[in-house]
Amino acid sequence: MTDSIRVTGGRALQGEVHVRGAKNFVSKAMVAALLGSTTSTLRNVPKILDVDIVASLLSLHGVKVNYDVDSGVVVMDTSDLTPADAVDIAKHAGSSRIPILLCGPLLHRLGTAVIPDLGGCRIGDRPIDFHLEILKKFGAVVEEGPDGLHLSAPNGLRGIKHELSYPSVGATEQLLLTAVMADGITTLHNAAVEPEIKDLIDTLQKMGAIISVDTDRSITIEGVSSLVGYDHVSLADRIEVGSWASAALATGGDIFARGAQQRHMGSFLNTFRKVGGGFEVKPDGIRFFHPGGPLKPIALQTDVHPGFMTDWQQPLVVALTQATGLSIVHETVYENRLGFTAALNQMGAQVQLFRECLGDKQCRFGQLNFKHSAVISGPTPLKAAEIEVPDLRGGFSYLIAALAAEGTSTVTNIGIIDRGYENFRAKLTDLGAVID
Ligand code: EPZ
Repeated sequence: MTDSIRVTGGRALQGEVHVRGAKNFVSKAMVAALLGSTTSTLRNVPKILDVDIVASLLSLHGVKVNYDVDSGVVVMDTSDLTPADAVDIAKHAGSSRIPILLCGPLLHRLGTAVIPDLGGCRIGDRPIDFHLEILKKFGAVVEEGPDGLHLSAPNGLRGIKHELSYPSVGATEQLLLTAVMADGITTLHNAAVEPEIKDLIDTLQKMGAIISVDTDRSITIEGVSSLVGYDHVSLADRIEVGSWASAALATGGDIFARGAQQRHMGSFLNTFRKVGGGFEVKPDGIRFFHPGGPLKPIALQTDVHPGFMTDWQQPLVVALTQATGLSIVHETVYENRLGFTAALNQMGAQVQLFRECLGDKQCRFGQLNFKHSAVISGPTPLKAAEIEVPDLRGGFSYLIAALAAEGTSTVTNIGIIDRGYENFRAKLTDLGAVID
């Protein structure tokens, strides 16, 4: 598959896409299988690179992984685990940040873990300080080696009391995956409570874990001595659904996202409606369409759940370039998640970035010189261009922009999009897009 495609824009996307499980859940559920002494089965798994990466990392550690792509079922036999070295882990992990989440389970099962240098999308410096602080508090010993960080647990892992300075999704997952078999009680305050986290908690509970989530977003875990495998169906990928919805809006189209679940998309659906988009919730998915007439500008702030998710921001910004008037976006989760708009401006959009917090939400980036707010003036006709994919969601946003633009764009470095969007080329073609 070449790493670039040509997209001829100006056609409304019409038809149906099937959205399967959530990228940001299935990868973690596969890691959780390491905690189980018996076989785990994960269903509704999408065919994306992140799943391949985790499957190969599990195999590296002795897990027998059987991944049936068509049925979307992954079966993981974790009865015979073995340690792996940093070089092999780095080779398999690529730019994925998943290796750090393997630590808790591997420390419990093998007493040792390794973290090679981590990657992830270029949307900020993606630190892992929250993770390391948590692992050390549980009793892990972290030694820096030439090939990465080497972890051990000479005295075992004991429950902790922890409060996150920011409700980090990854750090919350790190704590959950370590606490479930730690000795004693663990409490976490200011936890992330995204739907993907709730699904991970449900999965761990099926394995034998004892976890409760309180109304103040605190989580309490009573450690148990062993866990068994699970059988779980992943929730739908609400980020992919939001991406197709934004594509329908930006191209004046009508897309039925089979598998979409309203219960995880409240803030997106409200925003989509405020911009002037139409949607219809059906028993087996959600239909998103442009009802005709002008789109309306909005003031938008991203936030942790149940707020408007940061991963929905980039695709929706492309649709906002077609709204009549000024829209304001305040990105409060990542410091550099608006950088992708430079390419949109090359195509004719009018997006101006600001260091100020253009919104009233608490934000860590004010006065820190990060251009994390945007003013978008529309509607602006977009013209085809040659654009390079910078990160996963920015990349899909560029596809949306190319689909809305007049002329034929060349989008390069599109392999990144395979990390999180199953069969996106075929889906685009099925929706009537002209790509080659
Ligand atoms: C997860 O990333 C998702 N990735 C992201 O989706 C998503 O945008 C993000 O959560 C927020 O919902 C996966 O689940 C694989 P965080 P994660 O820890 O866990 C700071 C996508 O496109 N932070 O909640 O890495 C961090 O810099 C991806 O699918 C620290 O400072 O996100 C950021 O500003 C993009 N130190 C904020 O917290 C740390 O040790 C939120 O990060 C960890 C995070």
